[in-house]
Amino acid sequence: MDNKKTVFSAIQPSGELTLGNYIGALKNLVNLQDDYKCIYALADLHAITVRQDPELLKKRTLELYAIFLGCGIDPKKSLFFIQSHIYTHSELAWLLNCYTQYGELSRMTQFKDKSQKHADNINVGLFCYPTLMAADILLYGTDFVPVGEDQKQHVELTRNIAQRFNGIYGDVLKMPEPMIPEIGARIMSLQDPTKKMSKSDENKNGCILLSDSPDDIVKKFKKAVTDSYSEVKFRGEHTGIDNLISIYSVITGKSVIEIEDEFAGKGYGDFKKCVAEAIIQELTPIQKKAKEYLEDKSYLEECYKDAAKKALEISVKKLSIIKEKIGFII
Ligand code: TYM
Repeated sequence: MDNKKTVFSAIQPSGELTLGNYIGALKNLVNLQDDYKCIYALADLHAITVRQDPELLKKRTLELYAIFLGCGIDPKKSLFFIQSHIYTHSELAWLLNCYTQYGELSRMTQFKDKSQKHADNINVGLFCYPTLMAADILLYGTDFVPVGEDQKQHVELTRNIAQRFNGIYGDVLKMPEPMIPEIGARIMSLQDPTKKMSKSDENKNGCILLSDSPDDIVKKFKKAVTDSYSEVKFRGEHTGIDNLISIYSVITGKSVIEIEDEFAGKGYGDFKKCVAEAIIQELTPIQKKAKEYLEDKSYLEECYKDAAKKALEISVKKLSIIKEKIGFII
């Protein structure tokens, strides 16, 4: 275990999980467990940068914890905790705020997007969101951060902060690298292939939720926007068909060429049916297992409390080193 590289990633419990979250991140987090020392969190502190209903936040956090286990995150292999359970993340985030420039945070695409979407609540937390993410990553000496394309900029900022800090105090913080999947790093809306698939999409047909029923999945893929061509062919033009091919490829493990061969001479209707079927096959067992885990609240509690205890032990050590370097009396 000790000579394995460390991986850290987190997902916000701010809404229902989408197929984008699953393909861009969660599925990979499961696959990394045997080869890396994996540390995963539910980023509930990040979630409150957008107003959350308290009861719903609690419900979603537990549901998401159960979904992770249902997908195959194994608490015996990975450290999987809830971010707000340990204070070290918010404390380091404050420290890192003092080593992050206003201009750097102003340039973050996600901040710009979210401030437009939530114009009535552009809070300071939303602005400083990336420094909390940097704290999550840097507390564990992380080597790799498996995320979808939209989080790459935040990992790059984390590297800049670490470099700046190390420039002042010596080699204290490990330089993390983003780990972005080759296919599926940016799953697009089924209704508008120029937009990322997102739980906040107003057009509900654009987004597959992990909790969707087989009927919903079939309907949504049937309505998916394609393009003006007629062959199942990956053109690299960011068309709806490119998006469907990427989804099908990640889920079935088939290469793009194999998929093109499989559907040569067939129409978009046949292809969409097969994509829907593959997603149903993938999600049905996850939904079933997640439901079982969710019914066993005491097991969930045992898992997240135990993980938080272990994560705290690791992160407190790192935080002390950082504080000492800064010049605090510890
Ligand atoms: P979040 O909760 O928005 O998304 C979770 C993960 O899903 C990926 N993702 C996608 N991938 C492909 N296609 C899409 N359409 C799509 N939509 C979302 C995201 O890239 C992400 O990997 N700030 C993070 C959570 C976080 C974190 C961290 C991540 C907090 N601390 C430390 C890594 C390391 C976020 O909001 O992800």
